[in-house]
Amino acid sequence: MITVYPELDLAALRANGAALSESVLAGRDYELTSSGRAAIARALTAFGIDANDEVLVPAYCCLAMTAPIQARGARPVFYQLREDLSFDVQHLQAHLTSRTRAVIAVHYFGAASDLDALRLWCDSHQLILLEDCAHAFYTQIDSRLVGSVGHAGIASIMKFLPSYDGGALWFNAAPRRPLVQLPPRSSSLREYWSLLERSRLPGASCMRLVSRVRAHAMAGASSAEPPKSTMASATDGGLEFDPASQQLAASASAAWLLRRDSARRIKNQRCEHFEQLARAIRTMPGVRVFWSELPAGAVPYVLPCLFDRGDIAFASLRASGIQVFRWEFTEQHGCETTRRYARSLLQLPVHQALGHSQLLKLSNAIRAAAQAA
Ligand SMILES: Cc1ncc(COP(=O)(O)O)c(C=O)c1O
Repeated sequence: MITVYPELDLAALRANGAALSESVLAGRDYELTSSGRAAIARALTAFGIDANDEVLVPAYCCLAMTAPIQARGARPVFYQLREDLSFDVQHLQAHLTSRTRAVIAVHYFGAASDLDALRLWCDSHQLILLEDCAHAFYTQIDSRLVGSVGHAGIASIMKFLPSYDGGALWFNAAPRRPLVQLPPRSSSLREYWSLLERSRLPGASCMRLVSRVRAHAMAGASSAEPPKSTMASATDGGLEFDPASQQLAASASAAWLLRRDSARRIKNQRCEHFEQLARAIRTMPGVRVFWSELPAGAVPYVLPCLFDRGDIAFASLRASGIQVFRWEFTEQHGCETTRRYARSLLQLPVHQALGHSQLLKLSNAIRAAAQAA
């Protein structure tokens, strides 16, 4: 399986850099959380957003963004987006009620959104702007890292580093309720196992075999479903949210990788992989990359592609062993752009640990998916 999230490889272990040095966390006071969704939940708590409040969320969004809002008893209200996923403040204005308390804005797939006008609008209506940098760990806008416009910002570490878990939260404006700092958390054996078995390190395939045999044996011993961990599901691209995960810090291994891995390597490899795949896709009928070229300052989280026949392409890519994400549930969010993208916009792997043969496999799978009848 070629995964969207980066796998641990020898290059990450050998790197002696600082993955956070050129990231949205650089030079900030931040707290490490168990995931991006846990960081959203903690931000809502800190700003006192409660039951019956409304939070404006872009219609094209991930369930992991709305679940923490609903977990507080608040209501996500969706605002429309333009074709390039930018927004018009007029659209937000149309959804404003006496219950609106906050707005979430996203830097999609690693390209910066211009949020200055939105911040002014939020200030004029006493709303909190939460800047969602889950896709934009290394993204710059006008040579500055994103994350400084919102009253608070969140990041998702596991989308950019080969960690089992990890998110981050920071404040650019004082929250109403100060947060209790999360105590450092050591990684469990289960987390280390999961990290290593999903890795590209020697011995990982043996570990995967052991896991498969064990799962098989357990399935034989009991018909009950094995207990699910929300954090594991977040790491595997799952979208559930367990409110208890708000009280957990990022694991020690995620914090170690943040200090140890190389920002330069991650940024360069991701941009290079993007360029290589985008070049190949230009000659393929039935598919195009969402951006005509990599936007200035962007470091891609995924390779976003628009397929003429999204459903067929999605099934074809999955059958080829490619982990591809899409947000089909956003069809219902009352936005024409989002309705079109819900099934046709596929998020493909572009991460730093992809090797030459994986890139070739990806490019062949994309061509086949675009041509599948
Ligand atoms: C835009 C956006 N924000 C937030 C999240 C939540 O991040 P995490 O998966 O780290 O909880 C996601 C994740 O899937 C996302 O796509």
